[in-house]
Amino acid sequence: MKLRAAITGVGGYVPPDILDNEQLSRMVDTSDEWIMQRIGIKERRILKEKGKATSYMGTKAVKDLLKKTHTHPEEIDFLVCGTVTPDMPFPAVAHLICDKAGLHNAFGYDLNAACSGFLYALETGRRFIESGAYKKVIVVGADMMSSITNYEDRTSCPLFGDGAGAVLLEPTHEITGIMDSILQVDGSGVKNLHMAAGGSLNPASHETVDKKQHFVYQEGQAVFKVAVSKMADVSVEIMKRNNLTHEDIKFLVPHQANLRIIEATARRMEIGREQVMINIEKYGNTTAATIPLCLWEFEHLLRKGDNLVLTSFGAGFTWGSMYLKWAYDGKSGKQ
Ligand code: UT7
Repeated sequence: MKLRAAITGVGGYVPPDILDNEQLSRMVDTSDEWIMQRIGIKERRILKEKGKATSYMGTKAVKDLLKKTHTHPEEIDFLVCGTVTPDMPFPAVAHLICDKAGLHNAFGYDLNAACSGFLYALETGRRFIESGAYKKVIVVGADMMSSITNYEDRTSCPLFGDGAGAVLLEPTHEITGIMDSILQVDGSGVKNLHMAAGGSLNPASHETVDKKQHFVYQEGQAVFKVAVSKMADVSVEIMKRNNLTHEDIKFLVPHQANLRIIEATARRMEIGREQVMINIEKYGNTTAATIPLCLWEFEHLLRKGDNLVLTSFGAGFTWGSMYLKWAYDGKSGKQ
């Protein structure tokens, strides 16, 4: 019987401070009406405490996960963290989380695929489990987008929020867990979505700070067009090649960048709104954290054997879709 990798628990964390549309409209020339109509976000969480960053939220999510699954931190073999906002260029957020959460027997690393970071990391964890080499793997998606958001730019500042989610992956011989995936990349997307400075091309300098190059730069409409078609293309393809119709799917779990992109993807899959995990209104786009935060929030509605399709689109461009069969009856939900 084939060895598969199954998600056996979900943890999450969002910081308590809320930045809502009313507050944003006092910071830039925007309105609750425009943001709700064009994006679908009401509020987002911001990590405000000095001295705390992405690894703090990732550690909180991992501790929540370990508690819910009754797992001792030293049982974990490997931790991979999707993020574009590491506490610092090195060491990796994964290394800081392993230390802070007491994962003394684990190794790990970060993976940079922006909004597809969690899906790419999940694929990595899946293959490590399927190889038989590792038994308990944690996959984290964590981003502190407020640290790279320009709160003077009305075209981007309403979009982003901070948060972290984590899942436990374990081997199973049952027909549950990750069944299939399609992951793709097109690096020519760099011109439309990037952070220009702080890397080896434009190391930090007075000039890069003056030019505001340490913030997200996005050509919104160009990204919107590609996101709508690519997320739907791979999601429809994964349904087809696994003989799934919309009736077979319990939930679509999409990256939360824009409600209009989510709705367009669901339409192409012929999936109804009640079959889509959506929490963009409360958290905005938390980049690598959106998908695990959806699973965290909707876990209590999931039953063993439910078919889920996860899908994302982000900087790179990176995009993909994953089909999985949920492996347990979710009881606790988020805590
Ligand atoms: O997660 C990674 C991938 N990222 C995405 O998937 C994001 C994809 N892009 C988007 O979600 C949308 O393009 C945005 C939400 C970023 C922008 O929405 P849009 O409907 O594409 O707006 P637009 O850029 O075409 O701008 C339309 C108008 C412009 O005014 P004019 O030129 O028509 O007079 C903008 O200046 O809306 C204006 N505008 C705003 N007005 C009020 C732009 N931002 C705002 C704002 N408040 N915050």
